[in-house]
Amino acid sequence: MLCLSAASDPGWARAALQDLDAILVDHAHCEMKAAANALSLAARHGDHPRIARALTNLAREEIDHFQRVLRELDRRGLVLGAPPVDEYAAELRRASARLAPQLRTPLVDRLLVGALIEARSCERFKLLFDAMEGSLHDELRAFYGELLAAEARHSRVFVDLATIAAEGDLTATDVLARLSMLSVIEAAIVRRLAAGHTRATIHG
Ligand SMILES: [Fe+2]
Ligand SMILES: [Fe+2]
Repeated sequence: MLCLSAASDPGWARAALQDLDAILVDHAHCEMKAAANALSLAARHGDHPRIARALTNLAREEIDHFQRVLRELDRRGLVLGAPPVDEYAAELRRASARLAPQLRTPLVDRLLVGALIEARSCERFKLLFDAMEGSLHDELRAFYGELLAAEARHSRVFVDLATIAAEGDLTATDVLARLSMLSVIEAAIVRRLAAGHTRATIHG
């Protein structure tokens, strides 16, 4: 389960499949935001060439994911529309800003939050992949199988980059401890969003 501290409600995938069009639209927005976030971090941290390079590669992959989900939307006659407010990511970022400020470096936190978002995406894609077994969604299932492996890899890349970014300020153990604290907060956000409404979203 990568760096997550709690699994999603197993009923999420069943509900998601009942509104697959909405899930695909939300998924497209998630890929676009993942690409934009990676590029914006790379642009602001040119003083860390290794980190900037890795984030640019990651952004390229996310753009590819975005374009592929867009093609699926086209096939289904769906329109992307404006991006919704991303409560999940916004809450996670706000919570990280309040968590143990003496151990906080903004870039490390942004990277750790990225690791958690990627890990949750990977988990949700795996739930979709499993739920689509034996359904009429063979091609889409294969796509989610491919994506869940990519998002798992991205999650690990973000943790490695956070450790590199922390050098001189925090030890690798401190970084993992902070990731673990953030993962508890992330799990609480997921639980709260799931209890509050049943929206067909990747992270809701
Ligand atoms: Fe992606
Ligand atoms: Fe990703």
